Amino acid sequence: MKEIENSSLRLTDKDRKVTLYGWVQKKRDLGGVCFIDLRDRSGIVQLVARDGECYRIASELKSESVIKAKGIVSERESKNKNIPTGDIEIELSEIEVLNTSKDLPFEISDDTTALEDTRLKYRYLDIRRREVTNNLITRHKITMAIRNFLDKENFLEVETPVLCKSTPEGARDYLVPSRVNKGKFYALPQSPQLFKQLLMVGGIERYFQIAKCFRDEDLRSDRQPEFTQVDMEMSFVDQDDVMNLTERLIAHVFKEIRGIDIKLPLMKMKYDDAISKYGSDKPDLRFDMPICDVTEVFKNTNFSVFKNIVEENGIINCLVVKDAASKYSRKGLDQLTEFVKTYKVSGLAYLKFEDEVTGSIAKVVSEDEVNKLRDLLGIEKNDLVLIIADKKYNVVKTSLGALRCKLARELDLIKKDDFKLLWIVEFPSFEYSEEEGRYVACHHPFTAPLDSDVDKLIDDKAHCYSKAYDIVINGYEAGGGSIRIHREEVQEKMFRALELSEEDIKNKFGFFVEALKYGTPPHGGLAIGLDRLTMLLTGTDNIRDVIAFPKTASASCLMSECPNTVDKKQLDDLGIAIKEEVA
Ligand code: AMO
Repeated sequence: MKEIENSSLRLTDKDRKVTLYGWVQKKRDLGGVCFIDLRDRSGIVQLVARDGECYRIASELKSESVIKAKGIVSERESKNKNIPTGDIEIELSEIEVLNTSKDLPFEISDDTTALEDTRLKYRYLDIRRREVTNNLITRHKITMAIRNFLDKENFLEVETPVLCKSTPEGARDYLVPSRVNKGKFYALPQSPQLFKQLLMVGGIERYFQIAKCFRDEDLRSDRQPEFTQVDMEMSFVDQDDVMNLTERLIAHVFKEIRGIDIKLPLMKMKYDDAISKYGSDKPDLRFDMPICDVTEVFKNTNFSVFKNIVEENGIINCLVVKDAASKYSRKGLDQLTEFVKTYKVSGLAYLKFEDEVTGSIAKVVSEDEVNKLRDLLGIEKNDLVLIIADKKYNVVKTSLGALRCKLARELDLIKKDDFKLLWIVEFPSFEYSEEEGRYVACHHPFTAPLDSDVDKLIDDKAHCYSKAYDIVINGYEAGGGSIRIHREEVQEKMFRALELSEEDIKNKFGFFVEALKYGTPPHGGLAIGLDRLTMLLTGTDNIRDVIAFPKTASASCLMSECPNTVDKKQLDDLGIAIKEEVA
């Protein structure tokens, strides 16, 4: 059995006899003496083979061969400050080749130039790279820190089913056909939402689960079709209790994993304020640059584009980009314009405050308007003002919110290793779905409205706000949850607000509504995206970097080549026929 981690050896181990195992990362044969970098999960140690049988075997070793090596720890002549074992090497007395490797599809090194697709096809080789191994080690440590914390806080880890009935949470379900009940389907859980609430009805009081969730939705760099939640639920709590526990948990993880002290309590921002000031419900607060409303400045403008917007009750908002006027050429500004157009705005106006005021609207706005802007926005020399005007409030906010983040990246405004955490609270209960022609739940239909807004469930949905909260870290939604509706009559009001028919309610949630009738305690919870938290703590912006066997953007696994077709017999057993055009 392997007893020593390669990277644990130090000068204090000098003269120790050791038996090491690992993979041959690199070999340098100097003729008569051969150096080998031996890699295991922990890192690298240098072996040296001089003369005789040891040298002969060492000089013939190929990359990624698996070996067993015996020798004595000795002090190196020329030390390597870049690795923890850089002061020592192992003088070999014996080498045994346990296995050899085929020629590799890419070099196993930190600075590999291999394409991601190749690395995913041979993910087991990619995992041997330090960066990926370290990410998996960090993920493990995060999970352990969470389990220990929640165990101490009296939470029970309970598993909930993976074959279930669909929980409606916005995304499409992955369906699993039933063989025994032909024509019927299970859904893989988008989250354990209903089960964790039923555990509260069952008197478990404090539940958590490191739960796999499945959502058939469009993928982005922070989304996977199967991902992991740290799912929690508590009874006899209010919103502050859940938020308080969650932020202590997150602070514990930051301290354990990165040694970083997070100042508690975290800042809270209302959803409406986040949208108004940052154009996003997950604002990145590592840089400031808020969105400013300048509609008032152009109230009586002669500039026809702005005038029309003001007359149609639209808004005119802007970003002040400090000290950036000289950094953006005409071409750069055209690129920013193209970028915002993808958010459905018609254009981007700009003013550069240099010795003179220049820019796309410099000639059409009045001196008085320019001066008002200067005063209102506290403009200094070399500031760049980017303005968007539109009839639709959300379009203006979202486009400027996205532009704000793009500018911060381009201008390098984000400090490395800076973490800004906050809560977004008071989400609207509903959002209007143009597609469905009705209001749909913003979070999910089990989220309690604010006590003051219960009556708005029926008669003022647009202004009904909920006891929902998201924890945001550096512009990522790291977790979200809510206080739930625990009384049946409020839950029924909610279903009615969502225009669900009696039959829909009965078919989809009958068992759940029934459960609410049997003394359901007040309860609430939250789920943290474990993959996203690991991304943040490992400093990557690609979710695939922190998942052992991730899927591509088209939801497939390049290594095992899934999804794949199945035998006709398997389909026959399930009573399924594939339509011609799909096959
Ligand atoms: P929600 O849908 O907000 O809430 O999900 C909770 C957290 O899970 C992460 N997440 C994802 N991570 C990777 N890939 C995805 N496709 C993906 N989707 C979500 C995010 C998110 O904040 N049942 C509720 C929780 C509750 O109310 O308690 C829920 O699932 O970090």
